[in-house]
Amino acid sequence: MRVVHVASEVFPFSRSGGLGDVLGALPAQQARLGAEVTVVSPWYADITQPVRELWRGPLTVPGTVALGDVRVGELVQDGVQFLFVGLGAFDRPGLYFPDDVWRFTQFGRAVLPALERVGVRPDVLHGHDWQAGLVVALARLAGVRAVFSVHNLQYQGRWNLIDGTGWTGLPDWVYTHEGLEFHGDVNLMKAGLVFASQVTTVSPTYAQEITTPEYGEGLEGLLIRLTHEGRLSGVLNGLDQARWDPRTDADITPFADPAGKAACGAALRAEYGLDEAPILATVSRLAEQKGMDLLIGALPELTRDWNVVVLGGGDPRLEAALREWDAHPRVAFAQGMNEPLAHRIYAGADAFAMPSRFEPCGLSQMIAMRYGTLPVVRETGGLVDTVPHEVGFRFGPASVQGLVDACAAARSTFDDRAEWTARAAEAMSLDFSWDGPTREYLGLYARVLSSPLRPLT
Ligand code: GLC
Repeated sequence: MRVVHVASEVFPFSRSGGLGDVLGALPAQQARLGAEVTVVSPWYADITQPVRELWRGPLTVPGTVALGDVRVGELVQDGVQFLFVGLGAFDRPGLYFPDDVWRFTQFGRAVLPALERVGVRPDVLHGHDWQAGLVVALARLAGVRAVFSVHNLQYQGRWNLIDGTGWTGLPDWVYTHEGLEFHGDVNLMKAGLVFASQVTTVSPTYAQEITTPEYGEGLEGLLIRLTHEGRLSGVLNGLDQARWDPRTDADITPFADPAGKAACGAALRAEYGLDEAPILATVSRLAEQKGMDLLIGALPELTRDWNVVVLGGGDPRLEAALREWDAHPRVAFAQGMNEPLAHRIYAGADAFAMPSRFEPCGLSQMIAMRYGTLPVVRETGGLVDTVPHEVGFRFGPASVQGLVDACAAARSTFDDRAEWTARAAEAMSLDFSWDGPTREYLGLYARVLSSPLRPLT
């Protein structure tokens, strides 16, 4: 079976968050189980790995807006073929920009012709998030079966419908409410949802949540229909357990049990000049989704019981607030993304806060638990599906008080050393491997391949 994944980021070539991590792990696992796997992503200007150019030239694609010259590069790693599609719109450092709808529309139009150019024929095309929505639609129109995964419904790739055809290369009839039209806009997330044979989200709980107005981002009606048609399901993400293994991690003093964390805790304390109070950490995009405003709002209370370490970047207002808090002796803020530091934080912290307003899956809580760091999480999405009550601390309402109360519960448990250590040991023994999810996706592809192509309207 030839599977072609299409996504805007893939670790280690490009990454802004969990999406890149998933694309950095799942394809190699699928290849290990015998699938032929290709991953297509943009050829970003700052990819430094040795990409071999396979082809370069003009591509003929439907639509009136010309693409110009396209480059296709290849790198084979872990049994997976990574193809990079180079376009003028991606010749700048960085991943995401305000003109992304324009950029990823071009990318989407280039993918199938580029694959054809280099002789790759997908049996199943697996698109991820809105940046791959157009490819899913174009694949279906070309008779290729597609699976579409929602990693985050909030970002949908919308633009005002003026001249859709010229932009996307799709026929005019798709711009109706049954198709891509959404409140007068074109919606590329919707393209993926409508045209895929099967839609998945990255946890079973999020698959249910998005059929409600609270989490559905306006698409709940369509998602309810998909559920009734048996086309929407949740497949929980795994974790790359080799990349995140406290016993072999080269960025820390390795350890195999909760007692072994002490050296990492001491190192983190020394690095940031923290006192003896336990360490509550987070490694996160700084965004409202992640509830980072709640964490900041809780700091006056939290700093009584905890040192608080935050690593992340994003919303400039949240960054500015955290920079101010950084002056507090019990708060340390490291701005941006820093992989080795992330490892030191996961290893050295005692507890890990994820007050997410919504969390399709979330990987940080799994990493934290693997490093014996107990999560304090809001009860939503993948956090429900991965953080057992016997291990972590969960709270319902997305409020500062909810977070403060859950952290207080964690703090009193922390003071019961035997109980805390037992929880940490349990956390470290949990299995988040990709084995199960990899088989689930392969089973899903097999079902999609053996069922007739769904009619277009
Ligand atoms: C998005 C979601 C996150 C999920 C990740 C990978 O970043 O916000 O919850 O873990 O995608 O699927």
